[in-house]
Amino acid sequence: MRLDKYLVSTGKLSRSEAGRAARGGRITVGGIVEKHADRQIDPDVDVVTLDGEPIVYRAYTYLLLNKPEGVVSATEDGRDKTVLDLLPDELQRLGLFPCGRLDKYTTGLVLLTNNGPLGHRLLSPRHHVEKRYRFTCREPLSAENCQLLEAGVTLEDGYVTKPARIYAGEDGRSGEIVLIEGKYHQIKRMLEAVDNKIVTLERISFGALTLDGTPRGAWRYLTDEEIAALERAEGGSL
Ligand code: URA
Repeated sequence: MRLDKYLVSTGKLSRSEAGRAARGGRITVGGIVEKHADRQIDPDVDVVTLDGEPIVYRAYTYLLLNKPEGVVSATEDGRDKTVLDLLPDELQRLGLFPCGRLDKYTTGLVLLTNNGPLGHRLLSPRHHVEKRYRFTCREPLSAENCQLLEAGVTLEDGYVTKPARIYAGEDGRSGEIVLIEGKYHQIKRMLEAVDNKIVTLERISFGALTLDGTPRGAWRYLTDEEIAALERAEGGSL
């Protein structure tokens, strides 16, 4: 594997920064300064350091992105901008995909990874990974509506939703909803099942991941702790 690819996998440097770091003498391989970022290394054998710190190869990449309105949760689209279009070129080539889809006009947290098995596991209702959304709706939600939504409602195709949690705002037209599943247009259709309509929807958390500190349209690498939490597929208690 090329040294610069190895460095990029850690999420600490872009490919051009890796080249600059090598030329600047900041990288060692097997204890020897390596100025050529295009040289081949063996990730299982070679010890690589950046500024004296050993760096660990990551086979997979994990990013959190705060999706703006109008962007689609797909890897390519003939018409609309996709979540991948919001990333720098070098990250667009890593085979990342969004872990679950948000509708075009839903904003908020999208997890992108190229770890296929983990991505599929996180989406399985069996693993109970909680997804929390902030919503506004057209009509005030009554206490009865909230109870129905929490217990499970029958969607127009006959599907009965799994238990959810609702935290209704004081005005009744806003609140938060927590789901452990992600059917197509699920929240929109759940609100329709109680004769209401979603006006705005934002995903604010996904398992242990939260949007905190990541502005709309921006992305960041997950921390090692966040990756470990996803690997444990920590669920909630719905
Ligand atoms: N439910 C919806 O209706 N839309 C989303 O984007 C996510 C959940």
